[in-house]
Amino acid sequence: MTFNIGLGVTGGIAAYKAVEVLRLLQKAGCDVTVAMTRHATEFVQPLTFRALTDRHVIVDDYDPANPDPIAHINFSQNIDLLLIVPATANIIAKFANGVADDFLSSTYLATTAPVIIAPAMNVTMWEQPATQRNVEQLRADGVHFVDPVAGELACKTVGTGKLEDVENIVSQALRLLNAKTQRGKDAKADLAGEKLLITVGGTREAIDPVRFISNHSSGKMGFALAAAAADRAASVTVVAGVTTVEPPSNVNVIRAVSAEQMHEAVMKELPSATIFVGAAAVADYAPANAADAKIKKEGRDTMTLELKKTPDILADVSRNRHDGLMVVGFAAETNDVVGYARSKMEKKGLDIVVANDITKEGAGFNTDTNIATIITHTTETELPLISKRELGDRILDEVIRLRQGQSITN
Ligand code: CTP
Repeated sequence: MTFNIGLGVTGGIAAYKAVEVLRLLQKAGCDVTVAMTRHATEFVQPLTFRALTDRHVIVDDYDPANPDPIAHINFSQNIDLLLIVPATANIIAKFANGVADDFLSSTYLATTAPVIIAPAMNVTMWEQPATQRNVEQLRADGVHFVDPVAGELACKTVGTGKLEDVENIVSQALRLLNAKTQRGKDAKADLAGEKLLITVGGTREAIDPVRFISNHSSGKMGFALAAAAADRAASVTVVAGVTTVEPPSNVNVIRAVSAEQMHEAVMKELPSATIFVGAAAVADYAPANAADAKIKKEGRDTMTLELKKTPDILADVSRNRHDGLMVVGFAAETNDVVGYARSKMEKKGLDIVVANDITKEGAGFNTDTNIATIITHTTETELPLISKRELGDRILDEVIRLRQGQSITN
């Protein structure tokens, strides 16, 4: 399948790397049309892209040499993906605020294609609250980012701001396009309008600046459910602790390391959610007094750590629930699985609890499969060994079933 990609190049030193991105996309069989901002042309000549694509490179809609009188509309409607490499702080700010004062920013507003932005800039510009606000806004608007990486920057400073490797940018673009095609094939948009908020992964509770208490959670179950919901047209925000796998590309990710941070992030996002799923393995206890400096072992043969309970995020969400919020929890048990899961459902005020016996082969941490029983107040569905992705879909089916029940009784 050939993908049509709109490659937007903006004015930074890394603009020359857009040439490599173009070549890699072409090698992968994509049809690429290039648009540049005026400042980008100071770094790379449009002729370079024109020679490589055999197409007019659009910089200015109003340029008499532009063969298409309504280029920003035609360009934006004929692409499967808008990919910006590199993206300056300026173009990010324009996209975030709907400014359309040149060809590329008008194209962003006029397109319905997914957008991937690969920023590159000086570390201070990247970390500037204004830039971070704009990035957050765009993430919330559904834009995907290939975040800049740490390294030596063109300005000789060291820090985060370097363009991600071109191979990585291209592979993320292709992954998104392939996932979109797959979704198109078995499109099911039954969660359109729903806003899923989900906790994923394990938390880390600091003992001192070097050590922590944590668990074996990989984040696979939560990410699989998040991907399933996004593919079914829900808008998805993941609050992710420590994970060993990459999040899906079509969800918003907020990182939170400790139970306390995860609790804070969830409470902030909760008012706009319609479904909450607690899939994280949140540490139940954290050191009562984390040391500010590294604890030394000299003179200590034994050591006692005092632990305090962490906030129960799931229970707190349920206590603060607003009308229409569906609350789903997990119960990982080793014995009397359904009994303990049901009592968790009552205690934490859940609509659905997904119980699994972690002693069963194929149901534990770090596997791609799970064996679970989906429990509601009136039903109990025991499932065989299935993939975590399929279990995610089955849980979402149950959410929809309960929603329909709600609308019938209302
Ligand atoms: N959970 C949470 N916040 C916590 C602890 C747990 O949100 N501080 C959520 C988990 O994400 C999961 C559910 O609660 O959805 C079940 O967690 P679990 O730790 O198994 O239950 P507990 O009530 O802590 O019971 P116990 O550890 O005694 O089995």
